[in-house]
Amino acid sequence: MPVAIRQIHPLFAGEVSGIDITKPASKEDVAAIEAGMDKYAVLVFRDQDISDEQQMQFSLNFGAIESGRTGNVTKPGDHRLPVGMADVSNLGKDGKPRPRDDRQRLFALGNLLWHSDSSFRAIPAKYSLLSARTVNRKGGNTEFADMRAAYDALDEETRAEVEDLICEHSLMYSRGSLGFLDYSDEEKQMFKPVRQRLVRVHPVTGRKSLYLSSHAGTILGRPTPEARILLRDLNEHATQPGFVYVHKWKLHDLVMWDNRQTMHRGRRYDEAQPRDVRRTTVAGDVPTVAQEAAE
Ligand SMILES: [Fe+2]
Repeated sequence: MPVAIRQIHPLFAGEVSGIDITKPASKEDVAAIEAGMDKYAVLVFRDQDISDEQQMQFSLNFGAIESGRTGNVTKPGDHRLPVGMADVSNLGKDGKPRPRDDRQRLFALGNLLWHSDSSFRAIPAKYSLLSARTVNRKGGNTEFADMRAAYDALDEETRAEVEDLICEHSLMYSRGSLGFLDYSDEEKQMFKPVRQRLVRVHPVTGRKSLYLSSHAGTILGRPTPEARILLRDLNEHATQPGFVYVHKWKLHDLVMWDNRQTMHRGRRYDEAQPRDVRRTTVAGDVPTVAQEAAE
């Protein structure tokens, strides 16, 4: 059975059938999924009972995998999952939900803010793939916003205003907005702000989108409060319900999204219960704008 995609939201997001991710994907399957990603930006695969290795193999069809060993506050040796797998669960290395005041847990709460994965990296992520290994009975949805639709709906003046703006993104901005302010010198170095264009053009479709993320904290050439007010306004605009697809997780769902065209956020759930969702991240290939020259 060939890959088929059924649109599940008026603007974007599709559900894919005709593929078993435990098996190697054919060239035709990969091409159909890439084309689906360009069009729908979010794809849902149901009933994919996959291992970490199978998830990584499937992800590699679309590019290199980010290691996932930077961009968090997990200490070396504390990782629950192999290199290449980002742990989006609420579990410690002992397999139990992390305690309330656990630093990793508090840092991970930043995932509940609207963001685009790895927008804090000079070369930000292309795709993310999130696999549900243990789900919650209530809560824990993931929401996606179509940033192309958000761009299209801007008025002329705002489009002209944002066209050439460059933002600085850092994990310290997103976490800082939650009051998470203490970092080691090593973390400060790792989380140093990077530059990103506020308007991106999709390399295949040519569609423009707003490249927003809670990691964005400043805009070059603007005073910070003015920059943050503009970013807040744009975020409010971009995440209005009409632009949002809400994914309610079922066991063994795999959801794949294009970070260049969408934002997403997790929603709260009962953290006394285990939730095991595991992400692979397909790296992008180019920066959105030149970074500051090295000093
Ligand atoms: Fe994320």
